[in-house]
Amino acid sequence: MIPLVDLTAQYHSLKKEIDAAVLSTLESGHFILGPTVTKFEESIASYLGMDFGIGLASGTDALVLALRALNIGDGDEVIIPAYTFFATAGTVMSVGAKPIFVDVDPHSYQIDVNKIKDAITPKTKVIIPVHLYGHPAEMNPILEIARENGLKVIEDNAQAFGAEYQGKKTGTFGDIGCLSFFPTKNLGAFGDAGAVVTNDPSLAERMRMLRTHGWKKKYYSEEVGYNSRLDALQAAILQAKLPYVDTWNQKRLEISRRYSEQLAPVGIVVPVERDWAKPVYHLYIIRTPRRDELQACLKQKGIASEVYYPLPPHLSIPCRKFGYKEGDFPHAELASQQTLALPLYPELTLSQQDEVVIAVREFMS
Ligand SMILES: Cc1ncc(COP(=O)(O)O)c(C=O)c1O
Repeated sequence: MIPLVDLTAQYHSLKKEIDAAVLSTLESGHFILGPTVTKFEESIASYLGMDFGIGLASGTDALVLALRALNIGDGDEVIIPAYTFFATAGTVMSVGAKPIFVDVDPHSYQIDVNKIKDAITPKTKVIIPVHLYGHPAEMNPILEIARENGLKVIEDNAQAFGAEYQGKKTGTFGDIGCLSFFPTKNLGAFGDAGAVVTNDPSLAERMRMLRTHGWKKKYYSEEVGYNSRLDALQAAILQAKLPYVDTWNQKRLEISRRYSEQLAPVGIVVPVERDWAKPVYHLYIIRTPRRDELQACLKQKGIASEVYYPLPPHLSIPCRKFGYKEGDFPHAELASQQTLALPLYPELTLSQQDEVVIAVREFMS
């Protein structure tokens, strides 16, 4: 059996360090925020070259707090790609705003920067590019459109920790960068965890307040906030893993390029790498019109694969009230019918990969 991801492999490779980090947190008596979380926040900010990092309970909360910090709410519109994990759309709706979808580039799966301007109305406040699958969105045109139209930019960097656009880390271009440390992410916790990064001290202060009930001073709520704090055990685990993330990302890149070399010649559409991109391959996504058949065939041979995502958010039940319908975003819809993630994690062995490649090639022949 070849799994899509193997989280135990990574734990075993770092067992000593992680066990020590967990035990010392248990001895410390600090479980919510505290010095371990502060240290990790500083490490994340420094890794990304940002002034402020704020640890949160999840990547979903990172998006919610970013939107709240920018005062997004009822009557506002937020531009997002039509092909993404539902949280990008759901968080916009959860603060009372309307997601305005923009179709994606059919090759890179990133938001189509040529279609953003047409989606702007007087109600538009924010653009949220998503660096989907670990490949950067095309940030320069996005930032220029935002500047010209007085819009804020929140980067959904949940899938692209360590990726670069023109030599600069993704998540650091917009007003706020949102990170997820969900266990399967390139830097993954052993539970839910997330963070925001920003260079703006007032946004940082606002998000710190929002994560603890709107408090600046304990028990004195100044607005309605949340309980969305990063816990110390997760921070300790993430701190232990952080020094290895570049090596793991490099492994992901090598494995992915090897997949592409072997699968492109048999007619599988393999991921593109734009020349301005240093991708981190959160997922390795192939494409074929016979996707469902291929998935069933792999399953029979004990090879896991997964569809990210079978339903574009504009066709989800919560978005029905906005009147979106099938055909609105054809590239997103076709991608949802044709794309498939193959097993990918830094510890995937060459022989496991060969097994996957042989199975796909057999299917295609
Ligand atoms: C693109 C994207 N945005 C947001 C999220 C939400 O992150 P989390 O699962 O940590 O809440 C995820 C993660 O699953 C994601 O892939």
